[in-house]
Amino acid sequence: MRVDEVPNEANGAAPPALRPLDAHAMPLWRKGQIIAGALRGVFHHLRGRPGRLPIIHRQVSIREHHGTVRLGHLAEIHDRVVLSAIGTETDQALVAIGNRTSVWYGTVITARRNVTIGSECAISWNCSILDDDMHDVLELQDYKLSSRGPQPVVIGDHVWIGAGAIVLKGVTIGRDAIVAAGAIVTRDVPAATLVAGAPACVIRRVAGWR
Ligand SMILES: CC(C)(COP(=O)(O)OP(=O)(O)OC[C@H]1O[C@@H](n2cnc3c(N)ncnc32)[C@H](O)[C@@H]1OP(=O)(O)O)[C@@H](O)C(=O)NCCC(=O)NCCS
Repeated sequence: MRVDEVPNEANGAAPPALRPLDAHAMPLWRKGQIIAGALRGVFHHLRGRPGRLPIIHRQVSIREHHGTVRLGHLAEIHDRVVLSAIGTETDQALVAIGNRTSVWYGTVITARRNVTIGSECAISWNCSILDDDMHDVLELQDYKLSSRGPQPVVIGDHVWIGAGAIVLKGVTIGRDAIVAAGAIVTRDVPAATLVAGAPACVIRRVAGWR
């Protein structure tokens, strides 16, 4: 499939419908979980983020030091997720997560500078998204430290990142893309494209996902 054959708003095709949220079919425990998460979200909201009410589940660790974690409206952050924005006095860090994006159990998202995730994304469990390696490689030639420093990560709207995937520094992922479970993304991913493997390679173009 060529890029211009992918159904999109530009070529007149309707974007894939979002999966509807069916509250009636939801088990009681899930309703309770969302209500408790919304209450934690109210606390987050009261800390000065007007206009947005995120749902924050249990044991979520939000670490801010010279940085900000910004959660979108109805963004759902599941148990044991770590969101870390740790910058410096001169370079503030930002983790920004869009509206209605869900981040599942045990995922770690860490910014020394900037990690931006769009709206309506599904970030599965045990993923890692980082804009910095955190350590420098000591190169063989003259023992020089090769440090690239933090490089922003940008994930577009409606991206699905499969279980255990890792997105490394400097990567941009286009909207409607799919990252397969366990992939390690070291290079940019075009919109509406499925990538897999370590390092991740393009498998095929897709129309989206739901
Ligand atoms: C190992 C690492 C530090 C090397 O960084 P680097 O020297 O900047 O590497 P590059 O980005 O230049 O990549 C070099 C090649 O290795 C590949 N590569 C890099 N990391 C990879 C990984 N984790 N798995 C598979 N391939 C990888 C790249 O795709 C690239 O391949 P190419 O030359 O064919 O395009 C980095 O890739 C990494 O894994 N960072 C994460 C560190 C981490 O987990 N920190 C958490 C807190 S301690």
